[in-house]
Amino acid sequence: MCGIIGYLGPRNATSIILNGLRRLEYRGYDSAGIAILSNDGIHVTRAVGKLSNLESRLQQGGDSPPFATRDAPHSMGIGHTRWATHGGVTEHNAHPHLNDAGTIAVIQNGIIENFIELKGELQAEGIRFRSETDTEVIPHLVDLYMKAGMPFVRAAFAAIVRLQGSNAVVMMSAQEPDKLIAARLGNAGGIVIGINPDETFVASDIPGILDYTRNVIFLEDGEVAIAQAGRVSVYRLDGAPVSKQRHVIAWDPVSAEKGEYRHFMQKEIFEQARAVTDTLRGRVNFETGEVTLESLEAGVKNAEKFPARIHTVACGTSKHAGLIGKFLIERIARVPVEVDYGSEYRYRDPLIEPGLAVLGITQSGETADTLAAMSIGKARGAQVWAIVNAIGSQAERMATGVIHMRAGPEIGVCSTKTFLTSIVDQYLLACALAQRANVQTFERSNADPFSLARDLAHLPGLIGQTLKPDPIYEVLANYFHDRRHFLFLGRGINYPIALEGALKLKEISYIHAEGYPAGEMKHGPIALIDETMPVICVAVQDGVYEKMISQIEQVKARGGIVIAIATEGDGFIRQKADYVINVPAAPELLTPVLTAIPMQRLAYEMAVRLGCDVDQPRNLAKSVTVE
Ligand code: AGP
Ligand code: GLU
Repeated sequence: MCGIIGYLGPRNATSIILNGLRRLEYRGYDSAGIAILSNDGIHVTRAVGKLSNLESRLQQGGDSPPFATRDAPHSMGIGHTRWATHGGVTEHNAHPHLNDAGTIAVIQNGIIENFIELKGELQAEGIRFRSETDTEVIPHLVDLYMKAGMPFVRAAFAAIVRLQGSNAVVMMSAQEPDKLIAARLGNAGGIVIGINPDETFVASDIPGILDYTRNVIFLEDGEVAIAQAGRVSVYRLDGAPVSKQRHVIAWDPVSAEKGEYRHFMQKEIFEQARAVTDTLRGRVNFETGEVTLESLEAGVKNAEKFPARIHTVACGTSKHAGLIGKFLIERIARVPVEVDYGSEYRYRDPLIEPGLAVLGITQSGETADTLAAMSIGKARGAQVWAIVNAIGSQAERMATGVIHMRAGPEIGVCSTKTFLTSIVDQYLLACALAQRANVQTFERSNADPFSLARDLAHLPGLIGQTLKPDPIYEVLANYFHDRRHFLFLGRGINYPIALEGALKLKEISYIHAEGYPAGEMKHGPIALIDETMPVICVAVQDGVYEKMISQIEQVKARGGIVIAIATEGDGFIRQKADYVINVPAAPELLTPVLTAIPMQRLAYEMAVRLGCDVDQPRNLAKSVTVE
């Protein structure tokens, strides 16, 4: 996850920005850069690798004076640590990016989904690009609008509204040396603004500015801030002013880390667009669709090691992710996948034949049952792969190939962002396998593993839309928190989401819940249905939509209460279900990443309503290291 810092005030901008970037270092990055406004214009210095490289460039004089000019009334600048999504790790791809005249500097975090289109439009105007990043479209767009006569702030708004996807953007112009503009679009990157009486700070995360201020405001999706020294005005994209609540960040580190959220689980749910952006970084070339999973290349590239079959072993939420992965890998790469509980696999004398890869999925990397299952594969000569979040964990050390989830620390015992990122890892794995084996897929007309990988550029934006404020969760929690039983139904690739929905609810709210493949309902669970039973049905417009509708009819015919998770704009389902939670339309194979989110939000809302300990539910542990 990249870092963003901006400063405007009487202190030395360069040292404040460098210190802020250092505080955000733990989030990971591959290059860094800084732009400082001085009397003779904007000076940019960039360097690949660690911040110390940037610092030594600055000390050598760099391209920028190490200290901002003394005679300016205040000092202003922006700094960035980049973790590449578009274009290699090179100095010319590092941020900040400038327009041709070097008068507008921009840093960005996220993926601009429509950058190919915007770049084409700008190239048609004769603009030459100096980097391969998506970011560079922004300074050129602002410049174009300014040349058409708009002042900086209006031009910045006009450019920002054209960006699709989940992004955080900060920019400055030499023509208006008293303003920084910061925008938050979607949920891939946050923007926090710190305000002292005569200075203003902008950052992607609270730790970046905590050394200087505790008085902050948080931008919401679709808000743009115009920051001046000691004050800030916030607007919506349509120009309407927003009055923002100021927060005072607590001094204790735990509360400071939670920031604007009440619980870690809530924070972790709402940072999923950003987590998934991190999962994708550097792994997909969004222009060609090629997927590179460096840590697995040997297994994927080497023909002898190309797996004939995969056994996925995992527990709990990670097993549900594995079940979705089975759909993805079988459909995209045509490699057969079997999924088992770690605790079962280890004792069932599994058939381990040549060509088998055993894939352990575990966020902690320390789950005893999963490790035992992986070690059986290893002892019997299978390749062992792992999808893990915790770096350096046992699962990682045991495996010969690793795909990191890159979800960042997950503090809530209940897995949320590690679930989404482990699904995305398997989607990437499926595309990588299919691309190496040249498997043609027939998911959609003209679809192939390259275009399926390109679809991922839209995923953070879609996750952001699924995380928009929605009163439905509170409504449902108010109506149903006193029910003791829930049924969850799903089908096809969304059937494991029904299992996951039931697990989330029981884990944190202690309500009994069952998840079933919808077609199985008639073989038993239907006996449970009466007018007191809420039934949550995942019924998005995928290949089994019609089938889900008939299941819904069957629940309704027995008096059950249907809460449908449906595709936005589906008017038909509104006539069938009692309540509808919307998710945006998406390619079918990406739908589980979205339908998982309402399950998390609903469970969270119910648990809060019931006063449960959301982050540390009773009897549960984050790493289950015992058998
Ligand atoms: C998830 O919310 C649970 N806490 C639990 O089911 C968990 O997924 C399981 O224990 C596996 O953990 P792991 O991913 O760390 O291996
Ligand atoms: N998409 C931008 C790039 O590749 C931003 C990356 C980031 O979030 O660090 O440069």
